Amino acid sequence: MKYNLCGNSGLRLPEISLGLWHNFGDVDDFNVATSMIQYAFDNGVTHFDLANNYGPPPGSAEINFGKILAKELKGHRDELIISSKAGHLMWDGPYGDGGSRKYIMASIDQSLKRTGLEYFDIFYSHRYDPETPVEETMQALIDIVRQGKALYVGISKYPIDKLTEAYEILKSQHVPCLIYQDKYSMLERTPEKEHMSLNEKYGVGFISFSPLAQGLLTTKYLNGIPENSRAHKAHGFLQESEVTTEVIKKVSALNDLAAQRGQTLAEMALAWQFQNKHVTSVIVGTSSLNQLKDNLKATDNTHFASDELALIENILK
Ligand SMILES: NC(=O)c1ccc[n+]([C@@H]2O[C@H](COP(=O)([O-])OP(=O)(O)OC[C@H]3O[C@@H](n4cnc5c(N)ncnc54)[C@H](OP(=O)(O)O)[C@@H]3O)[C@@H](O)[C@H]2O)c1
Repeated sequence: MKYNLCGNSGLRLPEISLGLWHNFGDVDDFNVATSMIQYAFDNGVTHFDLANNYGPPPGSAEINFGKILAKELKGHRDELIISSKAGHLMWDGPYGDGGSRKYIMASIDQSLKRTGLEYFDIFYSHRYDPETPVEETMQALIDIVRQGKALYVGISKYPIDKLTEAYEILKSQHVPCLIYQDKYSMLERTPEKEHMSLNEKYGVGFISFSPLAQGLLTTKYLNGIPENSRAHKAHGFLQESEVTTEVIKKVSALNDLAAQRGQTLAEMALAWQFQNKHVTSVIVGTSSLNQLKDNLKATDNTHFASDELALIENILK
């Protein structure tokens, strides 16, 4: 595993991190979840990405991760980077959603309790909340760091003007933003437009989520929607309507190129991320040990010839 420095900080993150959004809730197989965390750690994945609402039910991914940590990774806390977030709907009433100080402060305490951790390495504002001043959310994150409940601050899914405001506030109080997390893959290129250069300007790292477009950038949907796939599951966030003929045509052409490179499509789609110098790490989600093993092979060949990159652009345009 290669470990990249995160922005201007002294913290290194593994090129591949593991996310617990799907596949680690109470609806999932705990033994599979355990084997994936164990295999990941044994193979150099030091970073695990959580949020208060991961499950289903919301909160169960944190509880399950806490159980696995206590049983399988006891004594390894200082070798791990564990993140969590607050920002999306978590509990009823006006204080369980958004970016208010009330919500963020209560939520991190709940997340610490569920995981059994004394602190998170990174704590994120999970989304921009138009109803809360950015200053209020950032002050809560700064205070969380000063209280020792998290070591670093992260931000996810902010529009560019609000992100700039957030970076300025954090910098002015000497708690600089460590990392920005957004959706980035061959099929979702928006962060390339403005966010990545802003991160470079402020010395903030970038971590991609849904780097396989929730499974679209694998061979799984080439011949329809299989049972037990995220698009098929009732609680899966990938909608059947997103598996379009147009997308599958592109995916099929990408798969041909991956075969020529001697990689699976998932491996190539992850490897492609690393030719972008702005990307510190990618967070994969996996529903089986075999998927995780496949994805970890992506780092074996991250070199792309210029004609391969041109072909990829041509397929994606
Ligand atoms: N900040 C945010 O708002 C935000 C939002 C979304 C995600 N995230 C983070 O990013 C993480 C990753 O997101 P994601 O789960 O959408 O990532 P992803 O890697 O794009 O998609 C994961 C899914 O792709 C399929 N897959 C993965 N590897 C495969 C392989 N080698 N072969 C075939 N299929 C494969 C599996 O689908 P099946 O289940 O169908 O097998 C798996 O559940 C999350 O866990 C979370 O930590 C953050």
